[in-house]
Amino acid sequence: MSIIEKAANKLRKSANASTKQSSANEIVPSKESKAPLSHGDMPAKITTIDQTLSPPATETNQVNQIFIDLDKLNKLGIVTPDQGKTQVAEQFRVIKRPLLTKAFADPKTIKNGNLIMVASSLAGEGKSFCSVNLAMSIASELDHRVLLIDADVARPSIPRILGFEPKKGLLDILLNKELDISDVMLQTGVDKLTLVSAGEERHAHATELLAGHRMGLLLDELSQRYHDRVVIFDSPPLLQTSEARVLAARMGQIVLVVEAEQTSQQAVKEALKQIESCTSINLIYNKARAFSGRENYGYGYGYNYS
Ligand SMILES: Nc1ncnc2c1ncn2[C@@H]1O[C@H](COP(=O)(O)OP(=O)(O)OP(=O)(O)O)[C@@H](O)[C@H]1O
Ligand SMILES: [Mg+2]
Repeated sequence: MSIIEKAANKLRKSANASTKQSSANEIVPSKESKAPLSHGDMPAKITTIDQTLSPPATETNQVNQIFIDLDKLNKLGIVTPDQGKTQVAEQFRVIKRPLLTKAFADPKTIKNGNLIMVASSLAGEGKSFCSVNLAMSIASELDHRVLLIDADVARPSIPRILGFEPKKGLLDILLNKELDISDVMLQTGVDKLTLVSAGEERHAHATELLAGHRMGLLLDELSQRYHDRVVIFDSPPLLQTSEARVLAARMGQIVLVVEAEQTSQQAVKEALKQIESCTSINLIYNKARAFSGRENYGYGYGYNYS
């Protein structure tokens, strides 16, 4: 064989090897990747916090899919991606803008800015309603992915609002070291929206788990491994639980929902005191009754920075 033929053979072999490599990359399972999920060619940033918290993905990982009835959500006043301009959609467009700016700001100016907790002083003020709306609104953005986590483990309401049976979720990860966050992520059919439910079953020590060390590790992991997506936490009420306060201390941003004409000034002040360690607190004045100019009244929102 001539030198030229040998060289040609060598080139052919290495070309074959690299073709095999790229097709192997293409058939990597499409479930939640361990690498950042968008933002161009950024190298994968794999957490080194606690190996037991994020074991390598196994072939048994499966994509968990739930069905969300978007028409039904529309009727409940919840924003959906293809809905166009409605009053609620417009209000959440305004609400999300400063949150997004901080979510992707320089980490030197804001730590864990992509972790956003939706809180309130008391129960029933609209945390879950606002969490889902915020998540849907951000998921409608062209370049932002959202992870909505039901962190109200004692009284989860995301499954009720979105209409699915409780699934393995946050509590299961906190209890089972073998489970990775990506194992319990639920694909929703809304392209950029992924969910983590509170958990399949209630747990006697749910609140302790949420305030515990492993939850702290999980939050660090979320802010690093999923640093290119917004993570929204629907949470328990601040003045009625202790874990909400602990959770708040670990968040980059907090949205405090205040129910118009219901929540007392004292309760809001008390709640603000509990979350004062967070450098970015935002208020939503929810269920405000604004005279529409006709006979009926509608809901509205106010929004400002503390
Ligand atoms: N802006 C709004 N417009 C219309 N309905 C709303 C609005 N905000 C909240 N609601 C309704 O008020 C009720 C309580 O809201 P939601 O469940 O979101 O409160 P919550 O703070 O999450 O309560 P909990 O503390 O019990 O989890 C729900 O029926 C919800 O649909
Ligand atoms: Mg709720």
